Amino acid sequence: MAAVRLLRGTWSELGHLAAPVRRRVFIEEQGIPVELEWDELDRASRHIVGMTDYDTPIGTVRLTPNAHVGRMAVLPVWRRRGIGKQLLQAVLEEAAAAGMRSVALSAQVPVIPFYEKLHFEPYGEIFQDVGIPHRMMRRALQ
Ligand SMILES: CC(C)(COP(=O)(O)OP(=O)(O)OC[C@H]1O[C@@H](n2cnc3c(N)ncnc32)[C@H](O)[C@@H]1OP(=O)(O)O)[C@@H](O)C(=O)NCCC(=O)NCCS
Repeated sequence: MAAVRLLRGTWSELGHLAAPVRRRVFIEEQGIPVELEWDELDRASRHIVGMTDYDTPIGTVRLTPNAHVGRMAVLPVWRRRGIGKQLLQAVLEEAAAAGMRSVALSAQVPVIPFYEKLHFEPYGEIFQDVGIPHRMMRRALQ
């Protein structure tokens, strides 16, 4: 597992670090329209950013006030080294600390197994969002 330093904060504190990762992954790699990537929920959410030893941001995730995990992204060259898992664990800690009883997310279908590793369970039908098949998942918190 790669060592990563996790920063936790608001969009005004961490947006300048989270934005380049999301731009690279969602806009450039996945082709998501730029106007759909940025929304008003960023300012209301808690954000986590994973940093290398050289202070480069390589992964990010957010937690909205209504307990949705989203915008989960790790830069391509850093994948499959446990960074996504550390980000997801950290966001679950944030949710528990905020008193949330469960969290939900809209998973891209190919990465459902990634979320299942951290005990999220799929529910409902598969649906299309920005041309990508998704399914809702949720996880109860202690
Ligand atoms: C999904 C994503 C965040 C995973 O990040 P990552 O750093 O590669 O994940 P990790 O290395 O922490 O993987 C944790 C576990 O999930 C597994 N996993 C990761 N990606 C997977 C995938 N696409 N399919 C199946 N299993 C996967 C890993 O093998 C690992 O298993 P292990 O604990 O048994 O070793 C990353 O692939 C990504 O940014 N993808 C593009 C953006 C995206 O799809 N975001 C999600 C939108 S819903």
